[in-house]
Amino acid sequence: MTTAKISIIGAGMTGATTAHWLAERELADLVLVDVVEGMPQGKGLDMLEAMPIIGSDTHILGTNDYADTAGSDIIIVTAGLPRKPGMSRDDLLKVNAEIVGKAVTETLKHSPNAIYIILTNPLDTMAYLAMKVGNLPRERVIGQAGILDSARMRAFVALETGVSVENIDCYVLGGHGDEMVPLTRHSNIAGVPLREYLPADRLDAIVERTRKGGGEIVNLLKTGSAFYAPAAACAQMAEAILKDKRLIVPCAAYMQGEYGLNDMYFGVPVMLGRKGIEKIIEYRLDDEEKAAFDKSAAAVRETHEALKSIVSL
Ligand code: APR
Repeated sequence: MTTAKISIIGAGMTGATTAHWLAERELADLVLVDVVEGMPQGKGLDMLEAMPIIGSDTHILGTNDYADTAGSDIIIVTAGLPRKPGMSRDDLLKVNAEIVGKAVTETLKHSPNAIYIILTNPLDTMAYLAMKVGNLPRERVIGQAGILDSARMRAFVALETGVSVENIDCYVLGGHGDEMVPLTRHSNIAGVPLREYLPADRLDAIVERTRKGGGEIVNLLKTGSAFYAPAAACAQMAEAILKDKRLIVPCAAYMQGEYGLNDMYFGVPVMLGRKGIEKIIEYRLDDEEKAAFDKSAAAVRETHEALKSIVSL
């Protein structure tokens, strides 16, 4: 047993993989919740049985009952449906809004002080929904995306240069969509700006591949979307919170004037600690970066508006 508790709502590919990454860190006891009967119980038990082999005293429970999430420090929401043929974006928005809304209200009953990490797509908008539905302070609702998008860029830079991923810092901000904003000016290899390290055409290719990173995996998998890297990002966020690391990473956060944005979720550098979002860090953007931010913000706002036309918040 460990002293903290994390509940993961949705025990599908991302949820179960998040549990896997977390269980290895021996950070918190884990509860996997899903609507499918038997599946979370089976995955939870299987993972529990792996713990003696890897030497972790993490306790893992799979369940269909929200009561088992009681006293969670962190709730990670991955529950949702994928877009099916014939389903419009708005149809999907409606379905996932219902699922995420229920996940938040049900878990809050049992864990009134929990910090929420939202992964269900469209995640900027689902994080917005979670904050509004739960009537939560913005510190406690964080969307996962920036760590994943930045990690993709870091991986591509490592492939290109043959340098350790640990030496590569990339910052991808903005909404989690095609209009995301990879900040090449702030990205570097061991302090050397990427723009100095790589020829412009190679850097452009990496930026483009990063923007389409999610789609590249979907096209390869054919069924389903990426889960290892999104799950690893969730685990890193949960660790930073529980250990009060005050780790600065890009995440989706509720904007209250930062970057000139208001009443919306957007990917920006945040400091993660025991309160959740301890601080939002504002970069000074140049004109080109500002224009990219505005374009990305417009795309996110459109989805927020679509949500507001479907559910009253
Ligand atoms: N309550 C709990 N779990 C639910 C509910 C609900 N109301 N509705 C659906 N689920 C569960 C499904 O049963 C499924 O096990 O959510 C899980 C989703 O898992 P997957 O279909 O494997 O999807 P995954 O790849 O994990 O992605 C989940 O994260 O990255 C995003 O875009 C992705 O929005 C998607 C989400």
